[in-house]
Amino acid sequence: MKKEVRAIILGAGKGTRMHSEKPKVLHEIFSKPLLGWCIEAVQRLRNDVQCIVVTGHKAECVDKYINSNYECVKTVLQKEQLGTGHAVMQAIPLIGNFKGNVIITCGDTPCITTLTLQNLINQHEDTCSDVTVLTAEFENPTGYGRIVRSTNNEVVEIIEEKDADEQTKKIKEVNGGIYCLNWETIKEVFTKLSNNNAQGEYYLTDIIKLAKNNSLKVSGYKISDNNEIYGINSRKNLAEAFNIINKRHLNELMDSGVTIVDTNSIFISPETEIESDTIIFPNTYIEGKNKIAKFCKVGPMARLRGGCEVGEGSKIGNFVELKNAKIAKNTNVCHLSYIGDAELGSNINIGAGTIFANYNSITKEKKKSYLEDGVSIGSNSVLVAPVKIKKDAFIGALSVITKDVDSSSLAITRNSQKEIKNWVKKQKGEI
Ligand code: UD1
Ligand code: CA
Repeated sequence: MKKEVRAIILGAGKGTRMHSEKPKVLHEIFSKPLLGWCIEAVQRLRNDVQCIVVTGHKAECVDKYINSNYECVKTVLQKEQLGTGHAVMQAIPLIGNFKGNVIITCGDTPCITTLTLQNLINQHEDTCSDVTVLTAEFENPTGYGRIVRSTNNEVVEIIEEKDADEQTKKIKEVNGGIYCLNWETIKEVFTKLSNNNAQGEYYLTDIIKLAKNNSLKVSGYKISDNNEIYGINSRKNLAEAFNIINKRHLNELMDSGVTIVDTNSIFISPETEIESDTIIFPNTYIEGKNKIAKFCKVGPMARLRGGCEVGEGSKIGNFVELKNAKIAKNTNVCHLSYIGDAELGSNINIGAGTIFANYNSITKEKKKSYLEDGVSIGSNSVLVAPVKIKKDAFIGALSVITKDVDSSSLAITRNSQKEIKNWVKKQKGEI
């Protein structure tokens, strides 16, 4: 790709059908807002993509999310939602006399991939187009804008469902709502947009017809995986998009040599990397950025909450939760444990029911713990952070560890065992 890229992401709409206090674009998939998925798909194109998000409904919440997560993304307010074309017009002053390609996407279409955006740009440049619109063919195209092509197959117009006659409604090729614009030639066209249509809105789709009128070149880029433009309008759509993103990642993992025992009950965020010959057992939920090396076993019923690294050959078993935990090779955390904010070496055994107490609910602070290679933690122990357990140390079961433990020592905090002979017989009055 030769030219610079900027992106406009439309996110001013209310999302009425979500029935929510939250703006639509802040609803989450794997704990990341829809808008975050859209921004990152664009940012991965190249590291200097400037991104502008058009905000409107509950703009202050969207601004807050962007400012605290994406430093270099700008926002622009669309005070009244007068249509997709009007939304883009709000971003024009920020783009000014830019001479590259401008990508437009929607903040409620989180399944779009960077590869598809890249292909869209490539075709746009190869064909020297002024506008390229991303299209798809649907068996049931209801609700989408229809792509009207001329007899020589050129895209000439997009007609919205509400403005379409019966003949137009039969067209199965639809507008995916994603565009690549040659900004230098196309910016003029935006001054000609009007709201003379069934919805009284400034339609972004009208730039196609207007570009044609100005003798500019218009193209369509048809995708084959319709899931990429799956838009979210309702909670049902949100669940479906979650499935699309999850299943796509599970397929990639299986193709690369990871065993996914049950694709219906395993959920793994695409931000999690897993190496080959690792097995993921049913009912496992993994979100955020994690790295799991080769020959590991994870689950059944495990939960990774992000920031975790699991080294080669390690086991994360049933009812184990990890958060910000770095675990080296051949370490076992097999049952009923919580490990948060910790670094564990290799060849460690964590007994069933071990809890890393990393959080102080009064100070709201989290503290870290360190376990060196070869450590063994007895069942039902609590490690109150910050503690350091040195190499080969042994913690007796049911201990509450609040101080560092030296290498090869035994640390134990429980009372010693007491035995009262014949106690049961005495209770029964037998003696
Ligand atoms: C739009 C397209 C339609 C296409 C479909 C694909 C238009 C006129 N129609 O229709 O051809 O098939 O997307 O999904 O463009 N938004 C704003 N400000 C506004 C209006 C909308 O920011 O004033 C944002 C919304 O938040 C949303 C996006 O633009 O993220 C799309 O708007 P939406 O109302 O969903 O358009 P569709 O009717 O789906
Ligand atoms: Ca939509």
